[in-house]
Amino acid sequence: MNKQDLVSRRTIVKGAAVTAAASTFTIVKAESVRGSAANSMVEVGFIGCGGQGTRDAQLLEQTKEAKIVAVADYFKTQTDKAAERFKVDAKNAHVGIDAYKEVIGSKVDAVLLVTPPGFRPEHFKAAVAAKKHIFAEKPLAVDVPGCHTVMEAGEKAKKLNLSVVVGLQRHYSKAYRAAKKLFDEGAMGQAVMAHSAWDQAKIWGERRGKRADWKSQLDFEIQHWYFFKWLSGDHIVEQNIHNIDVISWFLNKTPVRAAGISAVFDKRDGLGDIHDHFAVNYEYDNGVLLTNTCVQVDGVRGDVSETIRGTKGVFTTTAGRGGTGGVRIEAVPTRKEPNPAPIYKYEGGDDKHYDQEAATFVASVLGKGEGEDKYRNDTKYGVESTFMAILGRESAYRKTTLTWNELWNETKKLGFKPEPKAD
Ligand SMILES: NC(=O)c1ccc[n+]([C@@H]2O[C@H](COP(=O)([O-])OP(=O)(O)OC[C@H]3O[C@@H](n4cnc5c(N)ncnc54)[C@H](O)[C@@H]3O)[C@@H](O)[C@H]2O)c1
Repeated sequence: MNKQDLVSRRTIVKGAAVTAAASTFTIVKAESVRGSAANSMVEVGFIGCGGQGTRDAQLLEQTKEAKIVAVADYFKTQTDKAAERFKVDAKNAHVGIDAYKEVIGSKVDAVLLVTPPGFRPEHFKAAVAAKKHIFAEKPLAVDVPGCHTVMEAGEKAKKLNLSVVVGLQRHYSKAYRAAKKLFDEGAMGQAVMAHSAWDQAKIWGERRGKRADWKSQLDFEIQHWYFFKWLSGDHIVEQNIHNIDVISWFLNKTPVRAAGISAVFDKRDGLGDIHDHFAVNYEYDNGVLLTNTCVQVDGVRGDVSETIRGTKGVFTTTAGRGGTGGVRIEAVPTRKEPNPAPIYKYEGGDDKHYDQEAATFVASVLGKGEGEDKYRNDTKYGVESTFMAILGRESAYRKTTLTWNELWNETKKLGFKPEPKAD
């Protein structure tokens, strides 16, 4: 079957007949045409052409069923690099704060949203409105209104049968999935306590430039986005989200409250407004307590892991580079069985969660996904984990206990504060 015979899922949704001119490549997801999906190529618009975006874009192309056809970035240097690397025509390379609109408004089938997360809700909402499939990096927002925006757009995406993959790649790890299945089957007994952590040295030493080197305050903040709350959400949201997400994923629950504290150890010569170490306790309605830490201070020993302690076993993980590091479920020794065999053990190797995530996205768009990956829509857990991290951050900033429901109803937005104009 040739491309003209294929029916775009977007077009099915709109109830209109596809025309040959609608797209060079047409995308299939409906069961009726799945057999012909092998003829198609997913056209992707890449928004936010930095480090992680480049990795995601390469992994999408590695499937040989997706092609980056348009790029957008705030900085021209970034679109130039991306356009060259992915062989994108100059007319499809867009620059500036509104560049995302050009890509989302074009004929691409899917978008890769990889800017700093402060922009994610706006981009996500626009992508759903334009009926594009979405591969969005985590976190999905930096504040409560942003979480609501993405949740609502994600619901709409579901009704439109759009695929949404969120870059919480542990969900795409075979080892994590195997351990989760055993956990659900009761292999560890009842969960009681959990610990999650992303503790490491400070990051982005190379991006500690001076304000005077940048044309405007906005350029300066976007270049150094990690250090500004309105852009990154702080590192408990931007990075530590991965670990707290795993705990809620395994428990099949979100916590009811959080109590946190945080502080600044390294003042970074006044750069930005984030904190650099946090300790937050979360409580679930079944009595499970989670202690969570995240640190970005030089010299602190690294720990990127998740642990759940149950009445019969302990789940522990260690981070890997580019793939799953280690995942174990050990049985609790008893007097009768002082040296029990491990219930599950994976110690790193071929479990490439980033690659599997990208391949799952493309397969889902093409209607070739299998099992739980068939029609992926990660929005709900993506927003819940984003919000859980924001809940931890806010409880820590305020040095108080905050319930999920009370924060969910707050309306405060984080945003850029322009410099006062000189007279
Ligand atoms: N899943 C993972 O393991 C993982 C790893 C690293 C980063 N990330 C996520 O990926 C996202 C990007 O992180 P990164 O490390 O690639 O950062 P980066 O700074 O390398 O890239 C961000 C890019 O977005 C561009 N940009 C900024 N504002 C923009 C706007 N309004 N419109 C268009 N382009 C804009 C920047 O110029 C830059 O090129 C973040 O959300 C981060 O949390 C995920």
